[in-house]
Amino acid sequence: MTDRATQLRGEGRDIISLSVGEPDFATPTHVVEAAKAALVNGLTKYTPVGGTARMKEAAALHFARDLGIEVPTSQVMTSAGGKQAIFLAMLATVSEGEEVIVPAPWWVSYPEIVRFAGGSVVPLQTSAASGFRFSAGDLESQIGPRTQWLLLNSPGNPTGAVYSGDMLLGIGEVLRRNPRVMVLSDDIYAPLNYTGAPHATLAALCPDLADRVLTVSGVSKSHAMTGFRIGVSAGPEWLIRAMEKLQSHASGNPCSISQAAAVAAFEGPQDFLADWRETFRQRRDLVVAGINAITGLSTPEPEGAFYCMVDAAPLMDRFGDDAKLALHLLEHGVAVVPASAFGGRDGFRISFAAGRETLMEALRRIGDALAP
Ligand SMILES: Cc1ncc(COP(=O)(O)O)c(C=O)c1O
Repeated sequence: MTDRATQLRGEGRDIISLSVGEPDFATPTHVVEAAKAALVNGLTKYTPVGGTARMKEAAALHFARDLGIEVPTSQVMTSAGGKQAIFLAMLATVSEGEEVIVPAPWWVSYPEIVRFAGGSVVPLQTSAASGFRFSAGDLESQIGPRTQWLLLNSPGNPTGAVYSGDMLLGIGEVLRRNPRVMVLSDDIYAPLNYTGAPHATLAALCPDLADRVLTVSGVSKSHAMTGFRIGVSAGPEWLIRAMEKLQSHASGNPCSISQAAAVAAFEGPQDFLADWRETFRQRRDLVVAGINAITGLSTPEPEGAFYCMVDAAPLMDRFGDDAKLALHLLEHGVAVVPASAFGGRDGFRISFAAGRETLMEALRRIGDALAP
């Protein structure tokens, strides 16, 4: 897909990319200024592996204020993006043959990381009918004697699914009956929740389970800082120490300048987030209405993040599979990602991290491309 998109662009074709996984907003100015100041003030040397003391304090502030998770700084660490935190957690704990339950459609890196760590991926399939959310019962039916982790992502990529507090309490009940299972709660999209309800997360809702929950967050999506590569984790101290050990031998501390920028992001003003959220919500409404108006396509309303998982099952007779459908859309000037890339099927993911005009033009092209 990427090769073909590059080739088409090289031929002078105008391709709209709705495949990106990052906000299209500029990084807030106060964050950029903090990064500049760090450079000028010589914060250009090694830092403690899991982050400076200031960085850990800012991360603990973020977990308490934004996610409701009260943790001492000894239970937080910083890594090069949320991705590295997930990688470290799996590598530090998963043994050959242990099982990790991964709800599908999933974020592409989850199964790759689990397999790299030697674990087996147990897919927990969800569907549009349930808003791409699994129930407590669905989870319990997948837990076996070798289950080590559940990967939980809310708001989710690629579906935008958000788990409510009640759903998480039900999941908590299942976990109490299965004391061996740990949970990695990936809350990286937490501020981008359009339900109007406050963000709900397992470690805050079920404090008795917090000693087996690792919560991963960061600044990449919330503060448009994907290039800075800063992720933060909160969890049991033994796990945080193990992850730090691994990080010390793999990559060392995360970039010192990026840490200073992330401190500014967490400690500085957060009011811009309400505007970003509202902009994303309006774009979401535009895309959902536009997609559902195209014959053969449908999508439930994503409640968070900036993705929409589109079902195109009625078009599969015509196109064969979702990769061929995505290539067809590319030939008509829109790049999307086929659902099969996320462990789903017969559809594609649209990212609405693009301006209104761009989204409207993309919807027009998709409609034309799929006209009978
Ligand atoms: C669900 C999910 N988790 C984690 C990440 C990783 O974020 P970071 O850029 O901070 O590594 C992403 C990025 O796309 C994501 O979609």
